[in-house]
Amino acid sequence: MKQCRRVLAVFASMTIAVTALSGCGAGSGDKRQIIRIGHNQATDHPTNIALTAFEEYIEERLGDKYNVEVYPSELLGSQTDMVQLTQTGAIDFCVASNSILETFSENYTLFNLPYLFASSQAYHQSMDDPEIVGPIFESTKKAGFQAVTWIDAGTRNFYTVSTPIESPADLKGLKIRVQQSPTNVEMMNLLGGSATPMGFGDVYTALQSKVIDGAENNEMALTSNGHGDVCKYYSYDMHQMIPDILIGNCAFLDELPEDEREIFEEGFQLVNSVEREEWVKSVEAAREKAENEQGVTFLYPDTKPFQEICESMHAKMIEKYTDLEPIYHKIQEYNTQYPTDAE
Ligand code: GCU
Repeated sequence: MKQCRRVLAVFASMTIAVTALSGCGAGSGDKRQIIRIGHNQATDHPTNIALTAFEEYIEERLGDKYNVEVYPSELLGSQTDMVQLTQTGAIDFCVASNSILETFSENYTLFNLPYLFASSQAYHQSMDDPEIVGPIFESTKKAGFQAVTWIDAGTRNFYTVSTPIESPADLKGLKIRVQQSPTNVEMMNLLGGSATPMGFGDVYTALQSKVIDGAENNEMALTSNGHGDVCKYYSYDMHQMIPDILIGNCAFLDELPEDEREIFEEGFQLVNSVEREEWVKSVEAAREKAENEQGVTFLYPDTKPFQEICESMHAKMIEKYTDLEPIYHKIQEYNTQYPTDAE
């Protein structure tokens, strides 16, 4: 399946290389400008559902001018590849995890901190606050791209093939896949596991072939990516709430006439709201499927020992990136207001 995806990725990239020159449907007489959006989730995932809603919205409002094409499942390459394609304008938009963006702008480090948000309400309020996200979303403009909205990706937790994680001590000696970001590697090593960074598309095979003992992600990875076929313990240590970010090529965005830009901005908000609504339903369905069909056991350890180990990362980050300090404190205000998730 992976082989097949790679062949498709090469094919899709070649098609883009040919059509990007004109930006229109090559040779078809179709004069509409093609807008390409890449992401790494399956077609039934909330991200794809939300981007399809965006496609429909833009084509409904500006369909005589634009033809929006959504490429799911890493068809255009890994997230890092897609960010680079968006940077150069080879494609117009892609969804990247906040973790990946840390290597493009240090400002993104903030949202990768473990236990940054006290509750999902504090997380959502913070991500909806322009004073918090604004400076971060714009920080890559010089690099040629900017964030246009955020996408909920729930809470990240550890899951393993065969070791129940009840406390940090259980992670000792285990090879755990993390996303390719310095913060994630540091977190994993502090918690006692052996951090194994790799791209999302390689995780299933790595788990199956026992190159790694486990990974960490939201519940959707168990079902949508099949990790629950191999991993039988999912442990709610709640270490991170890392958003996904829809990023766009700056030249494309800046060249849009004002009235069209407004319609695109409405489209970005639609992505956010549709995804968030779908997310709640999808996670619930994923938990049910994982438990009942894949035989995954969900564990609820005391999160405090995990949190205490990671605490030093907060002060260290503020000391290193002083510009982020006021934003960090603003998040703490939301944490005080929403200290726990209301059931
Ligand atoms: C989540 C997230 C993706 C990310 C993936 C990962 O699925 O939504 O954007 O790529 O985690 O762990 O790499």
